[in-house]
Amino acid sequence: MSNASLLILPGDGIGPEVMTEVRKIIDWYGAKRDLTFDVSEDLVGGAAYDKHGTPLHDDTMAKAQEVDAVLLGAVGGPKYDNLDFSVKPERGLLRLRKEMDLFANLRPAQCFDALADFSSLKKEVVAGLDIMIVRELTSGIYFGEPRGIIEEGNERVGINTQRYTESEIDRVARSAFELARRRNNKVCSMEKANVMESGILWREVVQKVHDEDYPDVELSHMYADAGAMQLCRWPKQFDVIVTDNLFGDLLSDAAAMLTGSLGMLPSASLGLPMANGRPKALYEPVHGSAPDIAGQGKANPIACILSFAMALRYSFDQGDEATRLENAIETVLADGARTADLMGPEGGTPMSTSEMGDAIVAALDASL
Ligand code: NAD
Ligand code: IPM
Ligand code: MN
Repeated sequence: MSNASLLILPGDGIGPEVMTEVRKIIDWYGAKRDLTFDVSEDLVGGAAYDKHGTPLHDDTMAKAQEVDAVLLGAVGGPKYDNLDFSVKPERGLLRLRKEMDLFANLRPAQCFDALADFSSLKKEVVAGLDIMIVRELTSGIYFGEPRGIIEEGNERVGINTQRYTESEIDRVARSAFELARRRNNKVCSMEKANVMESGILWREVVQKVHDEDYPDVELSHMYADAGAMQLCRWPKQFDVIVTDNLFGDLLSDAAAMLTGSLGMLPSASLGLPMANGRPKALYEPVHGSAPDIAGQGKANPIACILSFAMALRYSFDQGDEATRLENAIETVLADGARTADLMGPEGGTPMSTSEMGDAIVAALDASL
């Protein structure tokens, strides 16, 4: 493979800590599988604000548009809580998603066998779980206008607008149906058509896309609140869930806990194909900057490493190598490797972030 370009944006808090471990994996692929990347690194979030006074410099935005894939750690933290809204770290990430038009956010929740006992749900509820949440990522209430805080009478009013066009719903629905065809052929669409007009339109468009182009895929609709309940009750009923930006944010955090820890859940944010046929893409863990454990070597790097595995699969056509990496993670977990977030009340001595990274590299070596 000719060198593919990868822009790494470690960000804030545990972002740089988990990204250091991903670097070990990238180096391993270069050394042992002859899979090399042109890697560049830049700032995002609070780190970019500290240097440039903005959470995403225009040059970084331009670079992100050019590379084959972006890999991001996490943004945000208490240090930035009182900044003006327009320069908050999270705005940097939202700008990347919006300007790269990354409308399909794939958030898989898979329960590794070794962790089935550790979930807060009963083992039989989560063992073997493998679902994919497809979250719409560039529209909805995150971006709708009007928005803001205005004066009205003698008080202030906070305003955000849920807004979806037919074409925005159509394209993310297609992503979900395409994925379902390569999995267990089932899509459940979640909205609140009982109380929101945008939900009514969502349901209609998803049904139309299904009837016209994907009649072979099994489609169901669920109100998102009932969906949240069903995710906890019997998550294995689902294959692909397609939902809007805000519901997808909530449902994917909930799904993360089915797998044991937020430190386990990766994501891929995909847009339209570029000239080279690869989709615009950004890969990042679902978790945030975890200020409570940042700087202590406690963070679980697996979500970020699994995000790199998704990059191998979705951007670089290296599905077998992605599977190798996922299997290596499965192996170390089966051998009892645990960062602190994966330890129950019975305790024990957890591994550090870098020990977990090293163990995964050792398992990759053993896979050869
Ligand atoms: P968080 O995901 O950072 O942390 C929630 C809890 O999960 C914390 O107890 C944390 O210690 C734990 N956790 C998260 N990732 C972990 C990991 N890899 N290993 C071990 N434990 C882990 O969410 P939060 O506390 O609500 O948000 C903190 C900051 O992160 C906020 O500024 C928020 O806006 C930001 N955030 C960023 C992203 C992102 O960059 N994509 C996502 C979510 C939150
Ligand atoms: C996520 C995060 C982000 C979101 C924030 C940090 C902008 O929670 O990626 O899930 O709300 O989308
Ligand atoms: Mn979130």
